[in-house]
Amino acid sequence: MLRHLLNPLDFTVEELDELFTLAEDIGNNQKKYAHVCDGKTLATCFYEPSTRTRLSFEAAMYNLGGNVLGFSEASSSSAAKGESVADTIRVISCYADICAMRHPKEGAAFVAAAHSHIPVINAGDGGHQHPTQTLTDLLTIRNLKGRLDDFTIGLCGDLKFGRTVHSLINALSRYNNINFIFISPEELKVPDYIIEMLNVKGISYKQVINLEEVIGELDILYMTRVQRERFFNEEDYVRLKDFYILTKDKLNHARKDMIVLHPLPRVNEISVEVDDDPRAAYFKQAQFGVYVRMALIMTLLGLNAEEENNA
Ligand code: CP
Repeated sequence: MLRHLLNPLDFTVEELDELFTLAEDIGNNQKKYAHVCDGKTLATCFYEPSTRTRLSFEAAMYNLGGNVLGFSEASSSSAAKGESVADTIRVISCYADICAMRHPKEGAAFVAAAHSHIPVINAGDGGHQHPTQTLTDLLTIRNLKGRLDDFTIGLCGDLKFGRTVHSLINALSRYNNINFIFISPEELKVPDYIIEMLNVKGISYKQVINLEEVIGELDILYMTRVQRERFFNEEDYVRLKDFYILTKDKLNHARKDMIVLHPLPRVNEISVEVDDDPRAAYFKQAQFGVYVRMALIMTLLGLNAEEENNA
């Protein structure tokens, strides 16, 4: 049965637990997994720029012993000649065993999955969802905080266009006793459909503008970049881009065990002086992204290290 990952909710909480346990084992025993994907091929079809997502998928497949093919920009694929996503994935299905796709249009990965003969992973669709970033975020929190429930998380920055934020809120809404604090300028507030979902589920949240006002309450601070590529005009972007800058001074008001996450890329929203603080976990987060993508590829292909190593 063909299985895709299009939305973080496509996996149950129990399935995610299994995935994270596998990812942690991969992180601790990388050699055991070095040939699990021998003879398998991952296609990375990226119609939008990426460093982490594309390269961590490629690193993941190489670490598993597999091969990688693909394109890193729409202009070097036949999309530039007008080919549809549906036709592209039909063709990619002839060349690869699994595909990770990033596209500027919301829903593109869903269209691809509907026409695909291989598992499709949504590697980001417009301002909508970024499920594998969410898997990365959850694995990082589970590893560094030891749990995925009972905490206060502050999401700060562009909460309107930031797809990583939308996916993470969705995913965390299934865990117990999560208290959300949304920190954004008025223009970049969390979309109404997410607020409605939290209201329906009775999940605790508040919306504030000032980071300093709430930083001392947080177990996790999730910083985000203002998404220039999704703004309608440059003037608004310039006005809002440096609205939040996390500095050492601001961090002095945070708890000693708070962790700072960021999906990256960073622009100005975290000062580089923060990188040496033990609470800064965003580069560790990028490392967890490789382990969780290895676990995801194995899971969607139905592969298991013991069986593959004994074959
Ligand atoms: N976090 C993330 O999606 O980074 P890239 O855009 O570099 O893939």
